[in-house]
Amino acid sequence: KDESTVSITVVGASGDLAKKKIFPALFALYYEDFLPKHFTIYGYARSKMTDEELRNMVSKTLTCRIDKRENCGEKMEEFLKRCFYHSGQYDSLKNFAELGKKLCQHEAGRIANRLFYLSIPPNIFIDAVRCASSSASSTSGWTRVIVEKPFGRDSESSAALTRGLKQYLKEEQIFRIDHYLGKELVENLSVLRFSNLIFEPLWSRQYIRNVQLIFSEDFGTEGRGGYFDHYGIIRDIMQNHLLQILALFAMETPISLDAEDIRNEKVKVLRSMRPLKLSDVIIGQYKSHTRGGVTYPGYTDDKTVPKDSLTPTFAAAALFIDNARWDGVPFLMKAGKALHTRRAEIRVQFRHVPGNLYNRNFGTDLDQATNELVIRVQPDEAIYLKINNKVPGLGMRLDRSNLNLHYAARYSKEIPDAYERLLLDAIEGERRLFIRSDELDAAWALFTPLLKELEKKKVHPEYYPYGSRGPIGAHYLAARYNVRWGDLG
Ligand code: BG6
Repeated sequence: KDESTVSITVVGASGDLAKKKIFPALFALYYEDFLPKHFTIYGYARSKMTDEELRNMVSKTLTCRIDKRENCGEKMEEFLKRCFYHSGQYDSLKNFAELGKKLCQHEAGRIANRLFYLSIPPNIFIDAVRCASSSASSTSGWTRVIVEKPFGRDSESSAALTRGLKQYLKEEQIFRIDHYLGKELVENLSVLRFSNLIFEPLWSRQYIRNVQLIFSEDFGTEGRGGYFDHYGIIRDIMQNHLLQILALFAMETPISLDAEDIRNEKVKVLRSMRPLKLSDVIIGQYKSHTRGGVTYPGYTDDKTVPKDSLTPTFAAAALFIDNARWDGVPFLMKAGKALHTRRAEIRVQFRHVPGNLYNRNFGTDLDQATNELVIRVQPDEAIYLKINNKVPGLGMRLDRSNLNLHYAARYSKEIPDAYERLLLDAIEGERRLFIRSDELDAAWALFTPLLKELEKKKVHPEYYPYGSRGPIGAHYLAARYNVRWGDLG
């Protein structure tokens, strides 16, 4: 291992993602001693900057782990010394060749592995990949490229992007990030299911009434309206983050934990799903709202968003998996911006206990008496199971209580950011948490007809006030399947 070196080039180094996520994650990996002994980090972007200026920019974004502050400053200095900058165009073979030369100098004759993180808009992905792979790829070790969504806007544009990338790279060189897969509780889903006897036998239509995948943010598209308006919440959150969670949740047991085995099962379940129809979905858009003397802007108040935009900032959908395990079980998704809270969670509502032994203690509202397993992905990570319990005392009263695994109380270690997990996996060549091209195709096949119909028919979103719980239509949609959203009590 000592004989090899890794060069990580962040293409689009001055962008938001690089500053907020990529450099801090790389530093955290360095801090925790996860980076190889020999490594170099390059920022690559169009603007002119010296190495010192890049270091200065990066240093402002770095934070230290709460539990280890002592030598943090020192570690930061060491880390920053390994960061460099190269200014170049994204479509210039020449500029990438110059970068390649600089990388060679750092690599000093060792086996050179090169990782390129494309933190740039998708319309320049292919150019950058063409140039990086032709002028700056490794001749002695591996070359890998990390790309981040959006992977197109529909099946056709996604397929075109895949074809474009594959002109220059093999599938195994492409690491498509869905950062939700790097979140601790999403990664834990398989552990929960497959290493606990008490869950897996219940994981089917026989015991599960419905599954809910909920994403909400308590802020709008502030500053990102231009990007967002081209995509909307269905493409931004549902088609990728929530669907990926669903696939992990619902897949059959993989043969092994090998990346191909896991992704084979995910593709299978995605391909067993029914493409969405207009009637399976409701969409919403937030409008301005004044609360406590503060006025929160509506979506179309953003200057980069057309005044007549119909782009959904909220959507709720019912999805079905037509296989033996899940036949008839609604998987309800809900995703929205500018809602009352920030939260991502999975809710599994179980069926009623058959018979009538204790059901009468719950009166007519049997829904209140069923078990519910909640996996709170963020914030304040937790897994809890709602059970019925006897209220202590001489009478016979039952109430619902939680068996609670609260991460902050159970584990003292801070949870790493998703980007740390994913960058480390990309460096180590572990593909389990990255999206394979057939997964991507299957995900688009599910959503593309719906997205086209919404746009063709110019379906109007239901408006909801900034900071509210979203449009009422989400309740009607759920009620159609006899479901009550668990997050609303
Ligand atoms: C991104 C979306 O993929 O995920 C954003 O483009 C969203 O719109 C973000 O805000 C949410 O990520 P997280 O990790 O903050 O929940």
